[in-house]
Amino acid sequence: MTEINKDQNDAPKTTGHDWDGISEYNIPAPRWWLITWIICIIWAVIYWFFYPTWPIPGGNSKGSLSWSGQSQLAETQAEIDVIKSVHLQKISKMTPQEIQQDPQLMEFALNGGRSAFKENCAACHGSGAQGSKGFPNLNDDDWLWGGTLDQIQQTLKYGIRSGHDKSRSSQMPSFGLDKILTKDEIKSVAEHVMSLSDSKLKNEAGEKIFAANCAVCHGVNGKGDRLVGAPNLSDAIWLYGSKKSDILYSIFYARAGVMPYWSGRLDDNTIKQLTLYVHSLGGGE
Ligand code: HEC
Ligand code: HEC
Repeated sequence: MTEINKDQNDAPKTTGHDWDGISEYNIPAPRWWLITWIICIIWAVIYWFFYPTWPIPGGNSKGSLSWSGQSQLAETQAEIDVIKSVHLQKISKMTPQEIQQDPQLMEFALNGGRSAFKENCAACHGSGAQGSKGFPNLNDDDWLWGGTLDQIQQTLKYGIRSGHDKSRSSQMPSFGLDKILTKDEIKSVAEHVMSLSDSKLKNEAGEKIFAANCAVCHGVNGKGDRLVGAPNLSDAIWLYGSKKSDILYSIFYARAGVMPYWSGRLDDNTIKQLTLYVHSLGGGE
């Protein structure tokens, strides 16, 4: 603690200045404070010399290191760009299967795929690829058209009923609208479809109608057929809803989901990264 200088009368010394009876003590600053202050001054002078400090027209003085926030950002960005272009070059020469074998490249591809997905696919499939009515969930292993890397890549490149020459395509007939089946027959076959995933239900007439009209695409047991994108009707996963009214609608009008093609809209590298990303979501085969 600082000892206050006292005079003979034991009163603290003053500078002799006096303002309306208010006088000023004459106490030197503590040594530790002085030393810190001097160090700060020295530090500031060094800092002025090396770094931008003084505001001058058009920005700050440069400092002998010519450092700036922008120059540092540009440097880091340049490093990132180099790494990125090396990775992208490798990816362009490799198949998705080969990329999968390289953990570092794979991490890069998954990050790229994730951000391209948010930008291009989330609007329909949801930001977590969880899907919604009419838009398939891409996290599960219930595939309409197939979940191998090659199958996913083909879906992405050419789309589904997309209008592209190489698009995946198939069309379920509109059994009601085109009067292929009567309303009663549609009701029966809908009940049979429901019985496929719920063994408590049964409709024998519906079973016969199914064998005659639906099994070509959905399979005798309703397990589906990826060659025509026909969904598995025997599991609990429904693209267009599990309610009887949803199923009746599907049979009466038929459904024909459209997935756009991305070949020519996204470059090959991005499509590869998206393929790996979708494959990695949980259902990849
Ligand atoms: C305009 C909406 C839309 C956009 C955008 C879209 N999709 Fe799709 N996607 C669909 C629909 C609808 C289907 C189902 C088609 C069907 O019924 O067969 C589908 C199907 C798929 C399938 C096949 C699933 C399976 O079970 O076989 C994959 C994989 C897929 N989409 C990935 C993507 C990716 C990756 C993107 C982004 C590049 C994307 N989709 C963008 C609508 C979209
Ligand atoms: C030419 C092939 C074909 C035939 C024949 C066919 N379907 Fe389909 N079915 C499909 C396709 C393809 C889809 C998926 C459409 C889509 O993805 O948009 C589908 C979808 C469905 C769905 C919706 C499934 C869901 O997950 O929401 C139901 C229900 C269905 N079909 C029932 C039937 C019944 C019942 C019959 C016979 C009366 C039948 N289908 C005949 C190809 C067919």
